[in-house]
Amino acid sequence: MKEFRIQPIKNGTVIDHIDSGKALKVIKIMGIDENVTSVVSVIMHVPSSKKDFKDIVKVEDRELNPKELKKIALIAPNATINIIRDYEVAKKTKVKPPEKVSGIVRCANPNCITNARTSMETFEPVEPEFTVESTKPLRLRCVYCERELENPEEHLI
Ligand code: CTP
Ligand code: ZN
Repeated sequence: MKEFRIQPIKNGTVIDHIDSGKALKVIKIMGIDENVTSVVSVIMHVPSSKKDFKDIVKVEDRELNPKELKKIALIAPNATINIIRDYEVAKKTKVKPPEKVSGIVRCANPNCITNARTSMETFEPVEPEFTVESTKPLRLRCVYCERELENPEEHLI
């Protein structure tokens, strides 16, 4: 039986197959807050054939930018991004969990070079960069201080 819990949308983006429980993080990544100006539907803990349960986020009249996509790939490595145009799925892509993570997660080590404050144009700021040691669970290691980041999902920039 087809799911009719949430209606199809006319135009926008459906992020499907989000790991159960992660929808709220996806919403946050997209900057959706009390100032939202489009219709957003969140459905959590939907029974799914592929996995036991999944979350879905539907955002009308809006697409994702590359930075948002990279962050979503990190916290929801099974997600599919469906671009909806005139009620049809115009484009479906699976997110790609990256091997390297640059500029979207901050290192938790206060002494890390990536957290050094740039004094008077002497230094260029060093962009944080991590290698992905595993995606499930997400384990990131800082390229600079070699520290493993605890709770990486809490350190998205
Ligand atoms: N969807 C929507 N509005 C539309 C069309 C699709 O909200 N006008 C949603 C569907 O509810 C589904 C997702 O977009 O959550 C992908 O749609 P579709 O490709 O038709 O579903 P499936 O074939 O089940 O997708 P998959 O194979 O990726 O699981
Ligand atoms: Zn570091």
